[in-house]
Amino acid sequence: MHGSDPVWKKFIRGTKFYKADVLIFGGDLTGKNVITVKENTNGTYSSEFQKQNHLLKNKEDLARFDEIVRRTGCYTYVGSEAEIEELAANKKKADQIFHQLILQRVKEWVDYAEQNATTPIYVNTGNDDELEVDDVLSTGTKVVLPEDKVVMIGSKHEMISAGFSNLTPWHCPRDLEEEEIAKRLEKKIGQLKDPTNAIFNFHCPPVDSGLDTCPKLDTSVFPPKPIVDAGGIVLFGAGSSSVRAAIEKHQPMVGLHGHIHESRNIARIGRTFCVNPGSEYAEGILRAVLINIGDSGFKSYQFVGG
Ligand SMILES: [Fe+2]
Repeated sequence: MHGSDPVWKKFIRGTKFYKADVLIFGGDLTGKNVITVKENTNGTYSSEFQKQNHLLKNKEDLARFDEIVRRTGCYTYVGSEAEIEELAANKKKADQIFHQLILQRVKEWVDYAEQNATTPIYVNTGNDDELEVDDVLSTGTKVVLPEDKVVMIGSKHEMISAGFSNLTPWHCPRDLEEEEIAKRLEKKIGQLKDPTNAIFNFHCPPVDSGLDTCPKLDTSVFPPKPIVDAGGIVLFGAGSSSVRAAIEKHQPMVGLHGHIHESRNIARIGRTFCVNPGSEYAEGILRAVLINIGDSGFKSYQFVGG
């Protein structure tokens, strides 16, 4: 979701819209950028957003602008010319404000869920999400952070969750070495009574599964750039080998994955049904998958979006 307001709201309303019994989210909840807005002395505001200059005539214009920014998952910060200049020069201060805005929106989302949710909602964090997000998610009664829990989906199926991923070019807060991932996953799986009947809600998809195909990046430059060969972008499987090994070994009923936005797909690994619904958060679009599970196991799936 990466901070996109309408995506969160559509997800929460999915209970009614899609007649879902349970909502499960697998991570990367928070946004990536702050958009600064300068408050001018004559009561207008100016900002640069999506490579365009915006002049906002009054508070109503500012509110409309903020709504658009929130749709893309970014955060608006309004300040005087001196404050905006300080943020541009002082990375520590800018990071502090970014951090506050991230936690503030998560709190707003938890409150929205409190008011609107009618089913259990399991919301896990992803590799992009700062560790402090966990504390805010834990402040509600309707949202459950499943990372360190075995939760029951219906009365028959256990679910374990893992928000971390293998190393990315962006050095995210929950990026881990494969060896550490393998260790942590085995610990979680060891808590299950029946792994073959379980759901693995693992943010990172299994490597080379078709759920993890994305452009290969040149990390010798910053920001990293897609590698182009023979006129085309080079693609590769960015998923985790430890996630794949855990699925191959334990053969759970279902693997729920995300992380690679452009790899909306399903895969079968042995008897396990794995899926990545993809993401178009920046357009305010919810990409999801409805999964129909009976007591005897996985029945069917349907990609949904809008
Ligand atoms: Fe991710």
